[in-house]
Amino acid sequence: MSAELENRFFELYQEFFNRAEAERRWNVQKDIPWDKANPKVQDEIALIVESFMAVELYLPDYTSKILELVRKSRGRAWFQANWGYEESKHSLVLEQWLLASGKRSKKELDVFIDQVLAHEWTLPFQTPRQMMIYTTFQELSTGLNYRNLRRRAIEQGDAALAAGLSLVARDESAHYQFFQDGVKLYLKEDRDGTLEDIRLVLEQFRMPAHDLIPDWEHRGEVIVGQKIFSDRIFFKDIMRPILTVLGTNRQELKELSKSSPDLATALES
Ligand SMILES: [Fe+2]
Ligand SMILES: [Fe+2]
Repeated sequence: MSAELENRFFELYQEFFNRAEAERRWNVQKDIPWDKANPKVQDEIALIVESFMAVELYLPDYTSKILELVRKSRGRAWFQANWGYEESKHSLVLEQWLLASGKRSKKELDVFIDQVLAHEWTLPFQTPRQMMIYTTFQELSTGLNYRNLRRRAIEQGDAALAAGLSLVARDESAHYQFFQDGVKLYLKEDRDGTLEDIRLVLEQFRMPAHDLIPDWEHRGEVIVGQKIFSDRIFFKDIMRPILTVLGTNRQELKELSKSSPDLATALES
């Protein structure tokens, strides 16, 4: 990576960090009205909260493996350390809500967390640039998952879950913004190579850790059934808007994706 690009990443991190310190710090215990957790929320909502908590539980793998990959880039490594702190609060919020609402007991959660952590997440892509592209799509997706879930929490009268998800979703948006700006830097430096990586990531894109989490097939169906997330939502609300923001388009990627009929069809639709 060029020194110029490295400097820009570090500037990007400083902007991200300064803004986070000034505007976005929040407290798991004090900023969420835990006494307003609603025990009558649908069980399906609790299952989704538990599922998202499971995804967040792979934090030790996400941080250690990504840090190892980017350790020579101060901007990216320092970002990753801060990202880990913020992500750690997300699983705490979801876990705390499962307890506060009475949807899960401490014992049930202990057993579940052990099952989840028995597996290990591995990097889906091998280069820092591919991982940055991957996390761009993944963070925007995660933010949208939480915003859609928050809508259900409001409908079902749970002010604790709604408040928690609003704080978490705001973090996810900030993460997305950092990664998206990073991909723009990569595009500026090497447009063709970066576009090729975007194509590769989109061809293989899957949300993290789903294959590691017990009963994901059922969990995934509930998530789609509650209209929290789906392939269609991904193509329409994640993939296309990001391609536009990055200054590329479906046509340009389609040229690159002739070898991948699935992606070509998705880009077409
Ligand atoms: Fe998160
Ligand atoms: Fe995030």
